[in-house]
Amino acid sequence: MTATQTPGRGERVADWLDGRLGIHSLGRKYLRKVFPDHWSFLLGEICLYSFVVLILTGVYLTLFFHPSMNEVTYHGSYVPLNGIRMSEAYASTLHISFDVRGGLLIRQLHHWAALVFVAGMLTHMMRHFFTGSFRKPREINWLFGWLLLFLGLFEGLFGYSLPDDLLSGTGLRFVNGALLSVPIVGTYLSMFLFGGEFPGHDIVARFYSLHILLIPGIMAALVVAHLILVVYHKHTQFAGPGRTERNVIGTPFMPVYLAKAGGFFFLVFGALTMIAAVATINPVWVYGPFRPDQVSTGAQPDWYLGFAEGLVRVMPGWEITLWGHTLVLGVLIPIVVFPLLLVFIGVYPFLEARVTGDRREHHLLDRPRNRPVRTAIGAVWISLYLILLAGGGNDIVATRLHLSINTVTWTVRVAVFVLPVVVFVVTRRICLGLQLRDRELVLHGRETGLIKRLPHGEYVEVHQPLDQAELHTLTAHKRPGELVEREPQP
Ligand code: HEM
Ligand code: HEM
Repeated sequence: MTATQTPGRGERVADWLDGRLGIHSLGRKYLRKVFPDHWSFLLGEICLYSFVVLILTGVYLTLFFHPSMNEVTYHGSYVPLNGIRMSEAYASTLHISFDVRGGLLIRQLHHWAALVFVAGMLTHMMRHFFTGSFRKPREINWLFGWLLLFLGLFEGLFGYSLPDDLLSGTGLRFVNGALLSVPIVGTYLSMFLFGGEFPGHDIVARFYSLHILLIPGIMAALVVAHLILVVYHKHTQFAGPGRTERNVIGTPFMPVYLAKAGGFFFLVFGALTMIAAVATINPVWVYGPFRPDQVSTGAQPDWYLGFAEGLVRVMPGWEITLWGHTLVLGVLIPIVVFPLLLVFIGVYPFLEARVTGDRREHHLLDRPRNRPVRTAIGAVWISLYLILLAGGGNDIVATRLHLSINTVTWTVRVAVFVLPVVVFVVTRRICLGLQLRDRELVLHGRETGLIKRLPHGEYVEVHQPLDQAELHTLTAHKRPGELVEREPQP
């Protein structure tokens, strides 16, 4: 532009905004932020995009959902339930499913996005766990993420309780039972939550406020804080040539990463919509309205809370009486273990720093095999989660595999104690074995499959040495004393 040219309208708007918001300097600083290229970094994005899908679809659902437990008689398009008395919440869910244009698709999209959202969070969390990205200075960001997971589990529970169908009511009865098992204050807690005797008339409206306002509000704030900290700390990266604790190698936010991320958002949205369009989820019209005197068989919570259900199902029904009061240990112990399992993973960064005494900053990620104990602990945590999930579906497992339900329950009971030990030992050994294999590769190169005959008649396999980059990647870590000790000393 020459001095005589007047700036265009776009430029004037940009100038006006820049004078007030300082966007130019902000952009100059952050638009060139570097993102390392690794597939596992997409997991955080899956969480982010499914959260956005949840908000968009959730807002649509609020337009038609009536969070009221007032009784009405149904007269709608779903003929089998015509004339049946039900809550307004349930009737409005049927209305969304059968009469609102696109309603069923959006409901299913909301539910599928919730399942993927929590799955995304768990896998994203485990990728940070196994690679040690939670170490200083990212412990607080780990806690923010962990809080998101914790809130996400309850947000899901509150969400699928809203339609007030027979399945969600059964879930609420479970919550009521858990509250009642709390010593001394259990009855008060239950009365307080349900606004009187279970199921009361208030719970759907209460969960509705929590579900559409309070929890998503806190979660949105946490997501923003989480991402600000990601930018502030800069990304971690795997060891490799040129990568140090002080730099980040990758592509810049603008334009490469932004284009990729934008595309990935539509991919996630599209994949979720496709699943929602073809795979039925939560067909509440099949379950019928909630009635406290009924319960359906095969009742399951959504998968992410299956482990809590499993804890209760496999726990023996112990009860003791103290000073004239019954303590239902069969429920109380599981509801104490349930948060402990989650809290352990939340405080793990602090536990590890304390036990190892490692308080240095880390920006290079670990390969899981190079941290055998941490990797084994992570594998134990996952195995417990999964075995308890199987316990939570003991009836389904039993009917599908033609087993007795007692066999399944007892298998899970034994596995809860035995599996962690086995998984710990095996995972640790596998990690050490993989390290030994890396050592072989570094010292002797890669096997080529070519057999060579030496002049004196001996046959040897030709090994191809690794290039410098691979050598660096495989050796850029501290080796455990156990393996160093076993090596022949010079
Ligand atoms: C992390 C975020 C969220 C999760 C995990 C989640 C999960 C769920 C689930 C599993 C259901 C049951 C769906 C069904 O009927 O099959 C549900 C229902 C509902 N959600 Fe959400 N939700 C989230 C955020 C939101 C937001 C932000 C809003 C509104 C602004 C919202 C509004 C609703 C409404 C109105 C219903 C009842 C309608 C119905 O069940 O058909 N949700 N939610
Ligand atoms: C709504 C849920 C969440 C969203 C939207 C989210 C999003 C993200 C994104 C986009 C990144 C940067 C890319 C990456 O490193 O993967 C990230 C980094 C991170 N997340 Fe999450 N996350 C969520 C939940 C969690 C959970 C449950 C945890 C663990 C308990 C966690 C721990 C971390 C940590 C430690 C980092 C920094 C890693 C680094 O700098 O390399 N996040 N998150």
